[in-house]
Amino acid sequence: MSTLPPPISDQPVLKLSNVESAYGPIKAIRGVSLQVRRGEIATVLGSNGAGKTTILKTISGIIDPRKGSVEFKGQDITARDPAHIVQEGLSHVPEGREVFPLLSVHDNLLMGAFTRSDRDGVAKDIATVYGYFPILKERATQDAGLLSGGQQQMLAISRALMADPDLILLDEPSLGLSPKLTKEIFEIVVRINRERGTTILLVEQNANMALNASDYGYVLENGRIVMEDTCANLREKDDIKEFYLGMKEDGVRGERRWKKKKTWR
Ligand SMILES: Nc1ncnc2c1ncn2[C@@H]1O[C@H](COP(=O)(O)OP(=O)(O)OP(=O)(O)O)[C@@H](O)[C@H]1O
Ligand SMILES: [Mg+2]
Repeated sequence: MSTLPPPISDQPVLKLSNVESAYGPIKAIRGVSLQVRRGEIATVLGSNGAGKTTILKTISGIIDPRKGSVEFKGQDITARDPAHIVQEGLSHVPEGREVFPLLSVHDNLLMGAFTRSDRDGVAKDIATVYGYFPILKERATQDAGLLSGGQQQMLAISRALMADPDLILLDEPSLGLSPKLTKEIFEIVVRINRERGTTILLVEQNANMALNASDYGYVLENGRIVMEDTCANLREKDDIKEFYLGMKEDGVRGERRWKKKKTWR
């Protein structure tokens, strides 16, 4: 890619402080604090049930936290209405895409732009997303429910972009996709970040893809952040290599020693 990445500012665009969310008696996240700086791709890595989706739902107002606060662009958005949060410039691509199956691809894109009144800007952004994902242009008039899983993921990302957001929350874009398609989608996500300067918070089980695409990473286990660092540093850590990247150094026993030695409050 020839474009230079936009500068990452020190100013956090998103800040979670001690956020706790639960489903009835089940505490899904337990005091999560994290920041996403303007212009970066940040990632939260974690295995099944770690609480990744819950973090994103809490940010976008789908779940109200029991404790803690969420700040977006310096404003407290804790437990605000999801529609208000979208209006403020935060788009969420949910786990499992959730496109409108009976609407055409084109109409799905227009739904993403419901907060906007600049018709020229909307038309320009539709052209831009068709540039990122040419298959969506070919299928523009087809019902979205007829697209393949990967194409639906492309549409879900594109629909989020249509709101012209400052921040996109991306929930496991690799879910159910082939390695090749996952790679293609991640390349576009990086392009969106570099070309438009859109800040992205990505949650993934696919640590390899996420660490390569992102600038800064958090590791989530059982609802708590247990590690954070630049992705360049995380990629070099033995624990990450062993447990998330599936690379075992010679001499390291096949036990989950890192988890075992941790004690939680
Ligand atoms: N609607 C719900 N009702 C009750 N418990 C839930 C609900 N949704 C999630 N949980 C529980 O909350 C915890 C965190 O779930 P969450 O979906 O946030 O995990 P995740 O990291 O996104 O997992 P995955 O990688 O499988 O998507 C899990 O223990 C899960 O069983
Ligand atoms: Mg999830």
